[in-house]
Amino acid sequence: MKKPFSSWPTYVVISILVAACSKSNEVAQMQNSANGTTSASCDTINMQYSTNVLPILQANCYSCHGNGRTQHGVSLDGYENVKRQADNGKLIGTITHAAGYPPMPNNSPKLSDCDIDKITDWVDRGAINN
Ligand code: HEC
Repeated sequence: MKKPFSSWPTYVVISILVAACSKSNEVAQMQNSANGTTSASCDTINMQYSTNVLPILQANCYSCHGNGRTQHGVSLDGYENVKRQADNGKLIGTITHAAGYPPMPNNSPKLSDCDIDKITDWVDRGAINN
């Protein structure tokens, strides 16, 4: 009569381990698919405005929102203007194609996951002028 009782904690431990293991695999898979094929080369830690974020905006947004162009009244010229769009949520909302925001860049393919992750990291760190 003692045997079944003495072994049930082992089953509990094993099933917790199995559950924890498959959970972390899920997370790893999600991260891999989010970064697509660029996961190995996409650095999204400690992103800086001048070296990481600004070049993406210049390449993808300045044709309508930079160098004096202000489509929809939106300028992304200079840190202060970008900071305003970061703080009001529109920068991330538009590039992630979130509900309630016009998808940007307008009439062009969505930015790569890598570029979106870079801008998101910079915003998450306070969108500072670095
Ligand atoms: C081809 C021109 C064009 C490009 C390129 C472009 N935009 Fe826009 N942008 C627009 C237009 C047009 C609107 C107004 C869209 C609307 O209200 O439907 C707009 C609106 C916006 C807004 C305001 C959204 C709101 O809710 O008020 C933001 C923020 C924005 N764009 C950011 C960006 C960013 C960031 C990029 C680059 C990733 C970008 N745009 C690229 C034309 C462009």
